Amino acid sequence: MSAYLFTTILMILTFFSPISTTAKYRHSTPCSEDFNASLPKSFTNCNKLNTLGAQFGWRIHSNESVIDICVGAMIETDEGWLAWGVNPQAESQMAGTRAIIGFKKPDRKPSWNTYNVTSETKLGCRLMPSKIVDIDFGNVKFEYLNQINYYRICATVGLSSEYNVSRLNHVWQVGFKSIGMEVMEPLKHKNPLPNMDSTETINLRVGTSKINAGPHRHRMRMMLALRLKPHSNDDYRIYWSIYHHFLGYSLLALIVVNIFRGIGIFSPNQTWRWAYIGVLCGLGFITLVFEIFTWIKFLKDRKEKNPGENDEGQQKKNTQM
Ligand code: HEM
Ligand SMILES: *[C@@H]1O[C@H](CO)[C@@H](O)[C@H](O)[C@H]1NC(C)=O
Ligand SMILES: *[C@@H]1O[C@H](CO)[C@@H](O)[C@H](O)[C@H]1NC(C)=O
Ligand SMILES: *[C@@H]1O[C@H](CO)[C@@H](O)[C@H](O)[C@H]1NC(C)=O
Ligand SMILES: *[C@@H]1O[C@H](CO)[C@@H](O)[C@H](O)[C@H]1NC(C)=O
Repeated sequence: MSAYLFTTILMILTFFSPISTTAKYRHSTPCSEDFNASLPKSFTNCNKLNTLGAQFGWRIHSNESVIDICVGAMIETDEGWLAWGVNPQAESQMAGTRAIIGFKKPDRKPSWNTYNVTSETKLGCRLMPSKIVDIDFGNVKFEYLNQINYYRICATVGLSSEYNVSRLNHVWQVGFKSIGMEVMEPLKHKNPLPNMDSTETINLRVGTSKINAGPHRHRMRMMLALRLKPHSNDDYRIYWSIYHHFLGYSLLALIVVNIFRGIGIFSPNQTWRWAYIGVLCGLGFITLVFEIFTWIKFLKDRKEKNPGENDEGQQKKNTQM
C-alpha cells in the first residue's frame, strides 16, 4: 500500500512542481566578439540564441515597425540550409512562420528565398518559395563569413501591425539538405531537442526573451516534465536537477520493490527470488562503473570549464540530453 501512496505523491509533485511553469525568461547571453564584430556598425544589440549555436543581432529603426536583423549559425553539411523568420500567431512555433531561407551549395554561390511555412509543411508538403504579404523583407543578404565559419542571413524587416517588437515571435532552424537548382526546396530538418527548441518570444527593445511553451512542449510535459529541463544558466536548474534525480531514483526503487512483491505473490519458490537478486547485483555493478566514469568526467570538465564560461550552457545542453 505504501508504495502506491508514494506513487501518488510523486505524481502530484510532478504536476505542481515549480518547474512546470509554461514559459520563462532566460538570461540573455551576449554574442561572441567575432560575430558582434561582423555586424553592421549601426546594430545596437546582439544575443546568442539558445540552440543550434545561432547568434542574433539587430537594431530598431526610428519607425519602430522596421528592424534590421542578422542571424548566423554554422551549416555542417554541403547542401544544408539556414532559416530565420517571424510568426504573427500567439505561439512562437514553426507553423505560421514567414521565413527567409538561405542555401549552401558546394559548387555555387549561396542563395536565398522567402517561404511561408505552414502546418501543411509540417505534415510533409513540399516547401516552395512564396511571396510574403504581411512582411516587407528588404536588403536581404545570405553570405558566408569564412573567418568564423558561419552562414549569415541579414535583412531589413518591415513588420505589419500584427507584429509587436516588444514581443516578437521569432524562429530559426538549420537543415542538412535541400534540392533544386533555380528554385530551392529545403528538406526537413532533424528532430532532436535543439531543433525543436529553436524559437522564442523576444523583446527587441530590451533584449530579453521568453522560451515558449508551444504545443510541442505541452504534449511532452504529459511524459513527466522531461522536456522542461531548464538551461544550465537558469536559476531553476538546481531544483530541476534535484527533482530529476530524486524522481529517477525513486522510480527505480519502486520498480525493484514491486518486482519482489510480484515474485512473492506468484512464486513462493525461492529460485526466482535469488535469480532476480543476481540480475540486480549485475546491473548494480554496471551502474557503479558508469557512475564512477561520470564522476571522473564531471570533475575533469569542471577543472577545464573556467576559461570558456559563455559556451558552457550550450555544450552542456547538447551533451547531456
Ligand atoms: C521541409 C520543411 C520542413 C518540414 C517537413 C518540417 C517538419 C517539422 C516537423 C514534423 C516538426 C515537429 C517534429 C516533432 O514534433 O517531433 C517540426 C518542428 C519544428 N520546425 Fe520544422 N519543418 C520544416 C521546415 C522548417 C523551417 C523552415 C523552420 C524555421 C523557419 C522550422 C522550424 C521548426 C521548429 C522551430 C520546430 C519546433 C517547434 C514546433 O514544432 O513548432 N521547420 N518541423
Ligand atoms: C559589439 O560591437 C560594438 C561595436 O560595433 C561594441 O560597441 C560593443 O561593445 C560590442 N559588444 C560586445 C558584446 O562585444
Ligand atoms: C501563407 O499560407 C497560408 C496557407 O496557404 C495562407 O493562408 C496565407 O495567406 C499565407 N501567408 C502569407 C503571409 O503569404
Ligand atoms: C513604418 O513601417 C511600416 C512597415 O514597413 C510601414 O507600413 C509604415 O508605413 C511605416 N510608417 C511610417 C510612418 O513611415
Ligand atoms: C506591444 O506590446 C507591448 C507589451 O505587451 C504593449 O504595451 C504595447 O501596447 C504593444 N504595442 C502595440 C502597437 O500593440
